[in-house]
This record gives sequence, structure tokens and C-alpha cells, in this order.
Amino acid sequence: FLFDKGNYRHFMAKEIHEQPEVVGRTLSHFLDLSTGTVSLPFELPVDAATLPRLTISACGTAFMAGLVASYWFERIARLPVEIEVASEFRYREPPMEKGGLMLLISQSGETADTLASLRYAKAQGQKILSIVNVPTSTMARESDVAALTLAGPEIGVASTKAFTCQLALLACLALAFAKARGTIDAKEEARLVAELTAVPGLIAEALKREPQVELLARDLSKARDVLYLGRGTSYPLALEGALKLKEISYIHAEGYAAGELKHGPIALVDSDLPVIVLAPRDHVFEKTLSNVQEVAARNGRIILISEPEAAHELGVPAEVIALPKMAPDFSALVYAVPVQLLAYHTAVFMGKDADQPRNLAKSVTVE
Ligand code: G6P
Repeated sequence: FLFDKGNYRHFMAKEIHEQPEVVGRTLSHFLDLSTGTVSLPFELPVDAATLPRLTISACGTAFMAGLVASYWFERIARLPVEIEVASEFRYREPPMEKGGLMLLISQSGETADTLASLRYAKAQGQKILSIVNVPTSTMARESDVAALTLAGPEIGVASTKAFTCQLALLACLALAFAKARGTIDAKEEARLVAELTAVPGLIAEALKREPQVELLARDLSKARDVLYLGRGTSYPLALEGALKLKEISYIHAEGYAAGELKHGPIALVDSDLPVIVLAPRDHVFEKTLSNVQEVAARNGRIILISEPEAAHELGVPAEVIALPKMAPDFSALVYAVPVQLLAYHTAVFMGKDADQPRNLAKSVTVE
């Protein structure tokens, strides 16, 4: 039954809708819900308290998950992070201090560039931690520790539920590092664990925006280009939004850090350009809104993904996809949902096969 679309038209739709369940399952594996603490089912292969730096590498959507997590590792655990796409990392020949930790992220555990990065790091004396969705994969076998996302088989070529499960696991890992490094106390740990525990319910709420997203997707399907903007963890999510739309609808899209708008992409803004803004209520919310006002001043068509009152505060016309109020730390897990749904419904409306986009493979085992 795992390979059955159920009542859905595509595996991708089914997999998007499975997220409350699979993210919840993944979280419950790395958190102790009875005590409200983080509890990893494995020993970290390094001393997290003294680790000077974490190196992360991955490809495609898994790389975007790593990029989101780099903000968490740095801000919550005060751990410096170096992150790079695997196809560059493997050929850069970066010097790595012995005993460091290399984190690889991969749904399949077989992506050639990510596997080559793993082997390079191992040869450089690194401990290897990988996050994979396939327990029998090559990466799982070649790692010191393989942490499993419990997304279940992902059939749609464009990754959705594996991505949010990677984020869930990475958030738990960031908390475990923070705890070991003494950057959060028991009270802060309990607060952050409670935030994570709320995520599956918030994802279920976000899924209820689907009818509205479907209407917006009809409009989006007429666009030639689409711009996605965000700050903080919403910046990598903007990159992921653009990637998803490109992958399955073949509309050209770009993700940009909202603060970089003025250094180039604002030149593209006119009434034909849909601009999708990811604006959870976090410490950069006001800054993001002021970037949206710059877009509005140039007649850009704004789709704002934020909380209900944001439209009011914005004070300029925008289509708003209103998500429930939430603490901002792990908003990426929830804001990912409308981003996936927008890409999916745009592709479906355009008559594209969302599960099998042209020229793409689920797992790229060649360079
Ligand atoms: C392919 C897929 C993407 C995926 C990427 C990395 O390009 O189409 O959806 O994100 O590979 O795959 P991995 O299995 O390493 O996560």
C-alpha cells in the first residue's frame, strides 16, 4: 500500500499530505515527549561540547535542508558551520582538521556527489554523521552514525516529505548540540521541544490553505518568471520554493535573500512578476515587510505567506496565504507546506506530470 496513490492524483500530493504524520513520527524518535527533552537514539561520534566546527554537504533539496539547519546550529548551539553543495565540496579539496564532524544529508543515501564528499571527508580524518531516509543505503553503511528520517518511501521525484523530515531531525540535532555546549538551559530546551512538538499540528493547519493555494496557482501558471524572497531560515526556503517550481512546472524561478533585492533583482520587478514572500513573525519580520513595500512601489504582484495580521501591517495590496500564529524558531517546517503546494498545483494546472518531471531523476548516482 506504500506504493499506492490512495485518493490522490499524484504521489507528490499524497506525500505532501503525509507530512503531519511522518514529521511527527520523526520528531518522536529524537525527542522524549514525556519529559519534553531532546533524546538522540545514538551517541554523537564527536564531543559536541568542544567541536570547533560542523561541515555540511548535500545536493538539491537536501542541501536546502542543510542551509536552513545551518542557521539553527549557529544561533541555538553557537556552533560555526561550513556548508556547501556536494558537487563543489568534493572537488575543492578543503583542508579539514582531524576529528571534525562531517554531516551529509540525503533522502536516497546514494547521490554520487554527496557520497564522494563523504569519502573525501573520511579520508581527511573526519567523523561521519549522515541523515538518510533509506536505512540500507551506501551512505548509511559508510557513516559512523546514520540518523534515519522516518518519511517512508518517497516516490515523487521532487522531494517534499523527506525535506520536512530532514528539517525535523536537524532541529533535534541542533538542540542536542546546544544542550551539550551549554547554550540552552533546561527551561529553554523544554520551550524549544514544545515548539517542535506543535509542528505536526501546524503543518496540518497549513494544509488547509490548499484550496486558496490552488486558486493562486492558476495565476502563477501564466507567469514567465517568479521571485521568492525571505530572510533568515526563510531565505533557504525561498531557494527551495524556486527549486520546486522550476523542477515540476518548468517556470523560471529564483530565490533571493530579501535584503539583496535592492542589489539586483528589483530591476526585474514589474506588474508581470509574481513575488512570493515568506515572512514568519521572527526577528527579521519587519525588515522583510519593508522589502515587500519596495516591491509594491514598483507594482510587483505580491503573494505574502505570513500570519493573518501581516497583511494589515504591510499596508499595500497583497494576496495573503495566512498561516497559524507560531513561535518563529522552526517556522521553516510549516512554511515549507504552502511552498510545496504552490509548485504542485501550478504544475498540475499546466498539465505537467508532477511525479515525473522531464530530465530529472529521483536519485542521481552519476556525476
Ligand atoms: C535529485 C532529486 C531531488 C533531490 C536530490 C538529492 O536531484 O530530484 O529531489 O533533492 O536529487 O537527492 P538525495 O537522495 O541525495 O536527497
